[in-house]
Amino acid sequence: MLPELALNLSRGCGNPTGFAKLQPGEALVDLGCGGGIDVILAAHRVGPQGRVVGIDFTPQMIERARETVATADLRDRSIELRRVEDMAETKLPDGSADVVISNCVINLCPGKDAVYREAFRVLRPGGRVAISDVVLSGDLAAELRARLRSTWSGCLGGAIPEEEYLDTVRRAGFAEIQVVAHHPFSPEELQAMACCPGEAFTPAPSTDDLAAVQGKVTSIKFIAHKPLASAGVVATTASTQPAPDTADGRWTRNSSGSESG
Ligand SMILES: C[S@@+](CC[C@H](N)C(=O)[O-])C[C@H]1O[C@@H](n2cnc3c(N)ncnc32)[C@H](O)[C@@H]1O
Repeated sequence: MLPELALNLSRGCGNPTGFAKLQPGEALVDLGCGGGIDVILAAHRVGPQGRVVGIDFTPQMIERARETVATADLRDRSIELRRVEDMAETKLPDGSADVVISNCVINLCPGKDAVYREAFRVLRPGGRVAISDVVLSGDLAAELRARLRSTWSGCLGGAIPEEEYLDTVRRAGFAEIQVVAHHPFSPEELQAMACCPGEAFTPAPSTDDLAAVQGKVTSIKFIAHKPLASAGVVATTASTQPAPDTADGRWTRNSSGSESG
């Protein structure tokens, strides 16, 4: 089901499509789709009546995702690969997605609040996020945390403590947060994540630093819901997005005029 290229380009820390409870026909957005592994997995699950939009800010990753999707047998699926300046501004219509997923991306963003507000805005009432991400689960000396931020830019440089992270999700308006799994990284996983996408880009952390954070960097998987009645919560991003072009608030294929996969 997965092309080798998709596996090689995967830089995730979980598999959100595995616990998002995806249904045929659903509209899904993948924030930080990278090489497209979860776009492909999601397209298989939502089927020909569904829709998948992969969002990334790197033109190279969008190009890679396009190649990957082209090697998968998905010609009858609606897949859009959209390059944006920042996933906090997807320019997707309000309330137009059933599910937003993200795999090992949001920890990288300094503006996590804005990202979760954007996910909330894009979801229909009753919609959900299914997220795999990296959090800190133990006390780290301030100096070590600062070094982690500045030198471990790879896949976990912006990780924050789990409770702080989940508070961000709540502040955006999400409810019923269910943490599905915790996975503390082994030394090998930690090193790979710290150096992601490769040592040529991000040098390996020192052995001492690796030992000091051992057991304190964890991947979490969780689901959270946009309440059915969320009138009291206002997404602060200006709502300048185009309206959806179907009566049920979904996009039709290529309706946004942006790049398609
Ligand atoms: C660690 S990789 C994960 C890629 C993919 N989700 C996976 O599981 O393989 C992070 C991806 O997020 C993208 N990214 C990081 N920050 C972003 C942002 N603010 N807006 C959009 N994309 C972002 C990067 O370009 C990269 O492709």
